[in-house]
Order: sequence, then C-alpha cells, then structure tokens
Amino acid sequence: MTRDKNDILPFFDLTHQDEEIGEEILRCIHNVIKSGKFILDENVSAFESEVAEYLEVEFAVGVASGTDALQLALIALDIGDGDEVITTPFSFIATAEVIRHVGAKPIFVDIDARTFNLSADHVEAVITDKTAAIMPVHIFGQSSDITELSTICKRHNIKLIEDCCQSFGAVFNGEKVGAFGDAGGFSFYPSKNLGALGDGGLVVTKHKEVAEKIRMLRNHGAKSPNQHELLGFNSRLDEIQAAVLREKLKNIDKNNSRRRKIAQRYNQLLANLPIVIPYEDPGGIHIFNQYTILSEQRDDIAIALKSENIASAIYYPIPLHKQPVMNKDYPDLVLPVTEDVTKRCISLPIYPELQEECIQKISAAIRTVFEQ
Ligand SMILES: Cc1ncc(COP(=O)(O)O)c(C=O)c1O
Repeated sequence: MTRDKNDILPFFDLTHQDEEIGEEILRCIHNVIKSGKFILDENVSAFESEVAEYLEVEFAVGVASGTDALQLALIALDIGDGDEVITTPFSFIATAEVIRHVGAKPIFVDIDARTFNLSADHVEAVITDKTAAIMPVHIFGQSSDITELSTICKRHNIKLIEDCCQSFGAVFNGEKVGAFGDAGGFSFYPSKNLGALGDGGLVVTKHKEVAEKIRMLRNHGAKSPNQHELLGFNSRLDEIQAAVLREKLKNIDKNNSRRRKIAQRYNQLLANLPIVIPYEDPGGIHIFNQYTILSEQRDDIAIALKSENIASAIYYPIPLHKQPVMNKDYPDLVLPVTEDVTKRCISLPIYPELQEECIQKISAAIRTVFEQ
C-alpha cells in the first residue's frame, strides 16, 4: 500500500483487506450466486462447524448481527421481564440495549482500571434475587476476568453471557472467549477482527437446547417449515456472508498476530510519554480490536493527529448509564473508574494492513504534544 503524504490516514481501512484474498473472496461469492442458494444453506452450516472448531465450542449458530446474537442468547436463556443483568457501563450501546429489549434491567458496575473490563470485584455486591445473568464484554479485544466471573455465576446459580463482539480469537487461561459462558455473542461487523462484507453475527453455546432454540429464533421460531413454535425473528446469517467469513477465517490467526505486533510497535514508540499504554493481562491473549491509550491530554492528542491527517476515535466518551436512553434509571449512579476512563481514553488506528511508516507517523504526532 503506497500512501501519499497528504492522504488521510483512516481510523480503520477496509479498502486493502482484499489485497491478499480478494480473488478467493470473489470466487466464493460467485459460487454462491451460481448455486442460487442464498439463505441457510451449505455455507452457513459449514461456517458454523468451522468456527465452532476454531473457537473450541460445541455449538455455533450464525445470525444477522452481534446485537442479535446477544439478544437471541438472552431470550434463549429465558432472561426477560423483571430480571436484572449485571454488565459493564464501558461498552457499545448494543450491550445494554439488548438487555432492555428483552424486558430486563442492566445493572452497571464499575470497570477494572487496567483492562477497562467489568470488574469482578464489584459484582457480588449487586447480586439480588432478581439477578438472572452477568454479561461481561471483552472490551477492545481483551478477555475480562472470565474465570472469576464464571465462578461467581456458578456460586449464585445465574447465567453467564459473554459479549465477544470485539474479541474474536482472544484467549483467557488457554481457552478462547465464548467458551466460558452459557452463551457468547460475536459480531462480524466489517471492522471487527473477523469482519464480513456487511453485517453478521454468531451465538456460541455449550448447551444443545440453547443452540436449537437460537436456530429457531433466528428463523421465525420455526423448527420445520410452517411450524412456528416460538415467537421468532428474521435474523439469519446469509450464504454470501458465510462464504466470505469461511475464507477470512483462514487468516484470522495471522491477522490477530499482526495486530499484536502493531500494538507492540506502538508500545515501543510511545514509551516514556505521560500516557497509559494498553495493559495486557498475562493470563490471556489480547487481540487488539482497538489500541486505546489514556492521557490527560487526549483532546490535544486528537488535535495533533488531525493536523497530520490522522484519524482517531474516542471509545467511549459517555458511560452507558449516562446515555440519554438509559440515564433516567440511574440518576444517582456514580462509577468513578468508568467516568475517569471515558474522559481520558483515545483509540489509535489499528488494522492488520497498517504499515510501519504509518505507525511511526502516528506515534511521532503524539510525541509532539508532550514536546511543546
Ligand atoms: C461490545 C459490542 N457489543 C455488541 C456489538 C453489536 O454488534 P453488531 O454491530 O454486529 O450488531 C458491538 C459492535 O460494534 C460491540 O462492539
């Protein structure tokens, strides 16, 4: 990839992802077109088997998005009206949205200052007789303390649903995320580590009956044609996206390693600045869907990057309990770590195709903030 010095360096660049496998992707799309089978056919079932093998889970069910994956998982686990679900306030809105959509209430607890994940230390204090589940998010590509959360769920006989939407291939204690909970939801939104050419999602589970229920829920509640046993949805992963994902799955380890190398380069080039670089829990493998730093001067960093035509993003500027759609239910909730992180975080471009010269340019622009 050659880049003119005046080109904008985007936050993520999906235009070059097909340089290596573009031909194969076109071939598999063409094969789907030739087959004339676009919905729930051989590519979806083959992808489900291949992805289940990769993630080392028993069941995998393709659905239309990560949001749907989480919502269908909640429904299949019978979580609904009057239930409480403990979750993180530092995530994309979808995490809390789906809890509300099924009629349950998100109970937000503070995050760990180093990993930005739901802190297992705060969870037990908010468990009540209404608590039905814990839904941690493995934020930015790093697992939460999922073994501890799993122990808490077992102790209190509540469900564990992993929001793995940002963490395809991330590992904790030798196991890939998604394998710990009663269910896990993945997103194949194009900028994810495993991204489709449009929307897509996946539910994984160790329970046969949950997998069966999700297969029905994604297809209008039908077990067999014209037999609608559940109140379902149209939430199918389509054949073209499944075919593309099968091709891309072959490169996931290489691409995740490349992201890890880019993160290491940033760590080296940003060393000794008054910023906090991402903490990597030694018990896991972070797959860097985002490379997020903390700085008192994050606005100056964003300006310095912009003046060099470099994009950056604030994930997330507003905690979920303070979002207009949620805040009426939490007027007095104060979560100090989350609130501090939302004021200081800034994410830098990271994607497998990001070149060394760009990493250097980004890091040099950040350095200028502290040299003035
Ligand atoms: C943490 C988290 N949860 C849920 C979702 C929803 O996934 P999708 O966009 O595929 O519906 C996302 C996607 O951005 C996410 O980052």
